[in-house]
Amino acid sequence: MTLIDEINRLKKEKNAVILAHNYQRPEIQDIADYVGDSIGLSRRAMEEKEAKIIVFSAVDFMAESAAVLNPDKKVLLPTLGARCPMAQMLTVDEIKRLKVHYPLVPVVLYVNTLAEAKAYCDICCTSANAVEVVNSVNTETVIFGPDHNLAEHVHRKTGKTIIPIPERGFCPTHLLFQPEDVQALKMTYPDAVVMVHPECTVEMQNIADFIGSTSQMCRYVKKSDAKAFIVATEEGIMHRLKKENPGKQFILAYEDAVCPNMKLNTLERLYTSLKEEKHVVTVPEPVAKKARKALERMFELK
Ligand code: 13P
Ligand code: SF4
Repeated sequence: MTLIDEINRLKKEKNAVILAHNYQRPEIQDIADYVGDSIGLSRRAMEEKEAKIIVFSAVDFMAESAAVLNPDKKVLLPTLGARCPMAQMLTVDEIKRLKVHYPLVPVVLYVNTLAEAKAYCDICCTSANAVEVVNSVNTETVIFGPDHNLAEHVHRKTGKTIIPIPERGFCPTHLLFQPEDVQALKMTYPDAVVMVHPECTVEMQNIADFIGSTSQMCRYVKKSDAKAFIVATEEGIMHRLKKENPGKQFILAYEDAVCPNMKLNTLERLYTSLKEEKHVVTVPEPVAKKARKALERMFELK
């Protein structure tokens, strides 16, 4: 039996589903029941009725959200250390401190935060709906974090004043993309459409033909008549883009744009995780209750 056969056998035996982020390794994406962006994965986790176990092949904050939304299910993260550094950049103390200064300003948090931080916000957002979420809040100023580049994107699209929290939260992987590299690629692929994740710098956003979440990029490509795309987000998405669009060409805007945390998950670790039912992601109910509210408010928007 191959590892894939074993995983499929265990899935049936234990009544488990595998949810994987668009940045996961190709072999994990291929075995997953669902592959998507943060919002798609949270929604899929929330709607899961049958399974007893959700293996969440991604990073900590995504699996935590699944656990928050599914208190009755066992949520497993294949690799204990798969942590998003951006999510670690915002502490509860920092939110509390800012709330003292701006008691009437709502706090909108990107889902790339830990559940304990989400518990102190008014509403969550993802890269797919940050603009809609901030527009839905009935103030002209919002506290927004942790990603500074997404904050800038939101400010440009909504015209609202953003108080960033922390001062400059960022994704180390998305900072690797530089306009100069895209300009150089454009010499070889002059007709290529440039797709940029909003975690990229403002300079990258300025040269984008399309800005969106990972799954929004996938949907955009499917609808587009263009034949070539320069992609500015983590390299894992290339597998899905190529698989779903065999006639189109995809060029990564920076060759080594890898999220090491996402890539900690391997097929072997996923297998062990399912077999030994580890690493169980739990969020204490008092925290989960508040974080759930912030996530549910986001889902109520659409
Ligand atoms: P998406 O929601 O666009 O998939 O982004 C998640 C993420 O962590 C990007 O770095
Ligand atoms: Fe976090 Fe960046 Fe990795 Fe996304 S790509 S999980 S934001 S470190």
